[in-house]
Amino acid sequence: MTDHDTAAGAAPKPYLQLQGVRKSFGVGGASTLALAHVDLSVREGEFLAIVGPSGCGKSTLLQIAAGLMPPSAGHVRFDGRAVTAPPEGIVYLFQQYGKSLFPWRTVLQNVSFATENRPGMTRDQRHAHSMKHVAMVGLEGFANHYPWQLSGGMQQRVTIARALAAEPRVLLMDEPFSSVDALTRLELHAMVLDLWEKHRFTAVLVTHDVDEAVFLADRIAVLSGRPSTVVGVLDTELPRPRDSITTKELPRFLELRHELLSRLLGRPTGAIPGSVSGEIPGAVPGAIPGTLPAAAP
Ligand SMILES: Nc1ncnc2c1ncn2[C@@H]1O[C@H](COP(=O)(O)OP(=O)(O)O)[C@@H](O)[C@H]1O
Ligand SMILES: [Mg+2]
Repeated sequence: MTDHDTAAGAAPKPYLQLQGVRKSFGVGGASTLALAHVDLSVREGEFLAIVGPSGCGKSTLLQIAAGLMPPSAGHVRFDGRAVTAPPEGIVYLFQQYGKSLFPWRTVLQNVSFATENRPGMTRDQRHAHSMKHVAMVGLEGFANHYPWQLSGGMQQRVTIARALAAEPRVLLMDEPFSSVDALTRLELHAMVLDLWEKHRFTAVLVTHDVDEAVFLADRIAVLSGRPSTVVGVLDTELPRPRDSITTKELPRFLELRHELLSRLLGRPTGAIPGSVSGEIPGAVPGAIPGTLPAAAP
């Protein structure tokens, strides 16, 4: 296991940091402990993936990081300041694009929502800024379409354009590719990587898809089953730019995939350099490769 703060060389400055975060829902006998104790540091400009079984607390963790939900215990800090409400500079991309777009607004109007409250921006500037972001996700021909006139993948592009139009310093993504078909997902992966390489915001992606995490991320934090803790952080050490076909054929890609799936499916094998350590308590053997099993109820 590599601890991201004590890896070889100078310790990188934590940018977005969760310390001893605990979260329970409800009270008394009916309460659910989602997060037991989470310590996690996100570095400025990196692409961090967080993987864990379904129901382990990934969305909860991301919402706490975004200041959308208070932790029951522990702290979140962003760029040296305590997070107690959604801080400026952090944008959250929800899993369900269908619910996050305004159906009565066109693509362009949805994207321009990101800058509606920005002081000092004229109408023309906002229009140009929004169009630029619509074009960035390849939807220039659809600026005047409504969300219901678009495919699922195109709608998700609109949410990505709107998120980037806010010019986030940190983009938090909660399984943003899970509701689109497999080929569209590959296209969206390539698009997000391209945008991230050009704009270098800090990216945090929550996913239950091991291949997606390995393909996109610099580092992968692995969560245990509920109640969650971070059981390890892997450095992917895969070269960039990455390619949907050839990167996935590299020995290192297969090694990481093997290691993560073995851990998450509860079939530990010999550890590899830079690998995670520890068991995943919520893992269920025999689940479909490439996805993670649901946590025990
Ligand atoms: N608002 C809530 N009220 C009560 N329980 C919740 C709430 N949100 C999440 N949970 C519970 O917390 C656990 C983790 O949920 P979640 O963070 O959505 O997991 P994941 O995103 O990993 O699938 C689940 O058992 C879920 O039922
Ligand atoms: Mg979730």
